[in-house]
Amino acid sequence: MTGELSPIDKAKFVAAKRATDYVEDGMRVGLGTGSTAAWMVRCLGEMVREQGLRIKGVPTSTRTAQLAQDVGIEVVSLDAAKWLDVTIDGADEFDGNLNLIKGGGGALLQEKIVATASDQMIVIADVGKEVETLGAFPLPVEVVPFGWQTTQALIEETLVSMDVLGRSTTLRMNGAAPFMTDEGNHILDLHLKRIGDARQLAMVLNQMPGVVENGLFIDICDAVVVGFGDGRVEVR
Ligand code: 5RP
Repeated sequence: MTGELSPIDKAKFVAAKRATDYVEDGMRVGLGTGSTAAWMVRCLGEMVREQGLRIKGVPTSTRTAQLAQDVGIEVVSLDAAKWLDVTIDGADEFDGNLNLIKGGGGALLQEKIVATASDQMIVIADVGKEVETLGAFPLPVEVVPFGWQTTQALIEETLVSMDVLGRSTTLRMNGAAPFMTDEGNHILDLHLKRIGDARQLAMVLNQMPGVVENGLFIDICDAVVVGFGDGRVEVR
């Protein structure tokens, strides 16, 4: 499954593989989105096919749903599963309090809904995602297409009074067209550089009309499985 991997892919793979230890027979499992989560889905698929592991997977994006089906995992909707035992997902940044920035792949809304509906959220990441303070990675915010420029202006105005360093925002594009999420929304990326009070920012953003959800995951993650390019794994 792995062949010859670059150090970064090896780090992602070993974190993903170790995180499958959290999955037991009969569990309902939230399946994250992104390149690291894709390794985890492939590992779980191998366990289903070769060890007879029986799980129900709830994917956080159409991409992950397709991959899960391709590797032999039974896919069910969140509403069918109702509640999940564990969700395993990647992240763009994590800090010492296990707070996260997510949404680099544009799936933050479904990822947050699924993680919140789980007994445990386990994040898998290469060590390069570990930061002292969140914010170097642009913060994704999912907004409805109607009046998105007005929502963008409101966000930029509000950032002036927040504990952040940068204030510029950009509409995420997919070639010449705005990126569309699975829910038919757009993503604004907030270039904040340093987020002093992530909890407050997350609350303020979600109070704005036009904002559907933001990529700050505060007090949602239970553990981060960190992979290194030399094959080591540490759990935070
Ligand atoms: C998708 C996400 C991903 O988990 C995040 O972007 C990390 O991706 P990768 O594992 O490819 O670095 O939040 O919305």
